[in-house]
Amino acid sequence: MQPHVRPVPGQFYLLRASETLDPLLRRPFSILMWDDTHLEFLIRLKGRGTHLLRNMRVGDRIDVLGPLGNGYPDPLKDETPILVAGGVGIASVFPLLHAGTRLFYGAMNSAELYLLDDIKKLTGNIFICTDDGSKGFKGNAVERLIESLDDLAVAKPTIYACGPEGMIAALLKFLSERGIPGYISFEERMACGIGACLGCVIKTVQGYKRVCKEGPVFNVREIVC
Ligand SMILES: Cc1cc2nc3c(=O)[nH]c(=O)nc-3n(C[C@H](O)[C@H](O)[C@H](O)COP(=O)(O)OP(=O)(O)OC[C@H]3O[C@@H](n4cnc5c(N)ncnc54)[C@H](O)[C@@H]3O)c2cc1C
Ligand code: FES
Repeated sequence: MQPHVRPVPGQFYLLRASETLDPLLRRPFSILMWDDTHLEFLIRLKGRGTHLLRNMRVGDRIDVLGPLGNGYPDPLKDETPILVAGGVGIASVFPLLHAGTRLFYGAMNSAELYLLDDIKKLTGNIFICTDDGSKGFKGNAVERLIESLDDLAVAKPTIYACGPEGMIAALLKFLSERGIPGYISFEERMACGIGACLGCVIKTVQGYKRVCKEGPVFNVREIVC
C-alpha cells in the first residue's frame, strides 16, 4: 500500500476489507507507523468490519481512504509532552514517541497491552497499568498520572492522549482542575467518516464539532465535559 499524502500523528484512515457492500461503511483506524511505501495499523477485533480485515490475505484488495482529520500539533519548545494511552488508543499516540518521552499506558489486563517491545525500543519512561493488576500499577493510566505527575517535576507538562471514554472523561476532569494543557484524540463511533452525516459530533465551546473532520484531536480547552 503506497501513501500518496504523508499522514501526521493522530490522523486516521478509513479501511474496508470487503469488496461487497457488506459492511457498507469503512471503519476508522489511527495511523500507527508509515514510510514512503507502507502504512501500518493496530487493529483490535470487534465486529464484522475488523474480522474481515483480519481474514485478508496478501494480494487482496483493500478500500483505503485517508489520511483524514486533524492530528496532534507539535509541542512548543518549552513544553514537556506526556503521552497517555488506554488500550488501542496507543496506536494514536505511538508516532509521538521519541527517546525519553514519558508514556502512561493502561489496559484491562497484560494481554491487552500492545506494542510493548516497540515502545521499549523508543523510550524507557513507561508507566504501565492494568485494571486487574496483572502488569504494572493496578488501576488506569489516568490514576497513575495523577499519582506521579508532581513527582516527575517536569516543566510545562502537556498531555497527548487517546483511550476509552471513561479514561478520557477522568483525564479531562483532572486537566481542567489543574489547568494543564493538552490534546485528546476521540475514538467516537463514526458512520461516513468524512464530515457528511454529523454522526460523530461532540460538544465544544464553539458548538458541536465533527470528530472525523474537525478532530479526532481536540485541544482540551475546547471540550465541554
Ligand atoms: C478516529 C478513530 C480511530 C480509531 N483507531 C483505532 C485503532 O487504531 N485501532 C482499533 O482497533 N480501533 C480503532 N478505532 C475503533 C474502530 O474504528 C472500531 O473498533 C471499528 O470501527 C469496529 O468495527 P467492526 O465492524 O469490527 O465492529 P462493529 O460491528 O461496527 O461494532 C462491534 C462493537 O464495537 C463497538 N464499536 C464500534 N466502533 C467503536 C468505537 N469507535 N469505539 C468503541 N466501540 C466501538 C460497537 O458498539 C459494537 O459493540 C478507532 C476509532 C476512531 C473513531
Ligand atoms: S462520521 Fe459522518 S460526519 Fe463524522
